[in-house]
Amino acid sequence: MIVPIEGFSKLTKEEKIDWVVEQYTQDSKSAKALLKRYLNADSTVQKLHDEFIENTITNYYLPLGIAPNFLINDKLYAIPMAIEESSVVAAASKASKFWLKRGGFKTTIIGTEKIGQVHFIYKGGFKKLNSFFKTIKPKLFSETTAITSNMKKRGGGISDIKLIDKTAKLDHYYQLHCSFETKDAMGANFINTCLEQFATTLKAEALLYTPFEEHEKNIEIVMSILSNYVPNCLVRAEVSCPIAELSPDINKANAFATKMVQAVQIAKIEPYRAVTHNKGIMNGIDAVILATGNDFRAVEAGVHAYASRNGSYASLTDAAINNGVFKFWIQLPLALGTVGGLTSLHPLVKLALEILQKPSAKELMQIVAVAGLAQNFAALRSLVTTGIQKGHMKMHLLNILNQLGATQEEKNTLTHHFKNNAATHNAVVQAFNNLRKQ
Ligand code: MEV
Repeated sequence: MIVPIEGFSKLTKEEKIDWVVEQYTQDSKSAKALLKRYLNADSTVQKLHDEFIENTITNYYLPLGIAPNFLINDKLYAIPMAIEESSVVAAASKASKFWLKRGGFKTTIIGTEKIGQVHFIYKGGFKKLNSFFKTIKPKLFSETTAITSNMKKRGGGISDIKLIDKTAKLDHYYQLHCSFETKDAMGANFINTCLEQFATTLKAEALLYTPFEEHEKNIEIVMSILSNYVPNCLVRAEVSCPIAELSPDINKANAFATKMVQAVQIAKIEPYRAVTHNKGIMNGIDAVILATGNDFRAVEAGVHAYASRNGSYASLTDAAINNGVFKFWIQLPLALGTVGGLTSLHPLVKLALEILQKPSAKELMQIVAVAGLAQNFAALRSLVTTGIQKGHMKMHLLNILNQLGATQEEKNTLTHHFKNNAATHNAVVQAFNNLRKQ
């Protein structure tokens, strides 16, 4: 019988492994061997990984791939992508190659504003609270000078603090809605530290504010936390070319451009499609975010909120045909960092950033937006022409063959066979069995 464990985090790694394999696995010897096989032989690297989180028992690998030939604002990038899905890197590479010959990707940063909030309860009227806020606002800034000094040297800091009345939606609920510039840092720690200081100042100053009556002096801080919704930390990426350049056959080129626009229009008005459409975009985005040590959960949450900003979940990309020119673009919020966090710790993250030519956070936003746009272009291109399965199954073929335990020779034979045959799961299994029979 499995019983709860006390003090698991205090056990050594060896003890943790022993406990988990004995309690929860059928074959504890092989489970233990597997966990050990994935540990890094270099103890310094392993220690680093052990210390990223609590209760590390091994490492969890994802492939790191490269999508080359991305021409972004006339500069060539090879984009590192960490992802398990078979066709993502191949699709990105195809899209980069396609647009390389057509002027590449153009990007712009629309804004870099980060947001954080102090949520609090005040049992009095807004007018008096607002006068109090105006009085203490300089103090909110001055009492964070020790926290902000380094960020200020880099050109960042607290941009503004606003008092917001939310009582129409929740009784007695107000907030300090704060904006920040965090330059090359994602800024989560900086923002949260500032917010917690704002909360301390707010509470302490309320106790001393004489116009407040006794019950008004007790401001209750509920929480202080950054927001992962950053609609003004925004980047845009686009590609465009004359329709005639989309295909050597002008009829095909016209049909393709029209269908691409229709596909985007559908994802703009139909949430069921929009979710899958945007999932494909996130295939590219998350892979670069992971490779560069950024927080993909933060980006996911913010991006999907942005996709719903007009009241209905919709496509992040857009497409249009004007005067014979096909244009395809994306606009999305991305709060990223190229300093701090994992960026200076994880050896592969450091290398990924080096491969990207040590980008600033703004440059990384542009690269990531391009990865999302390229991924969507590749997905829609397949969807509106051959269908997605042909390319996807080709890439997935090796996974199926690995599941079947194919040897390298069998893999070579069957990969060759499926160059000209539809690689459905059944067809692969059958071809494999036939080959074994021979
Ligand atoms: C699969 O991971 C992503 C796609 O479904 C995206 C799309 O449908 O646009 C192919």
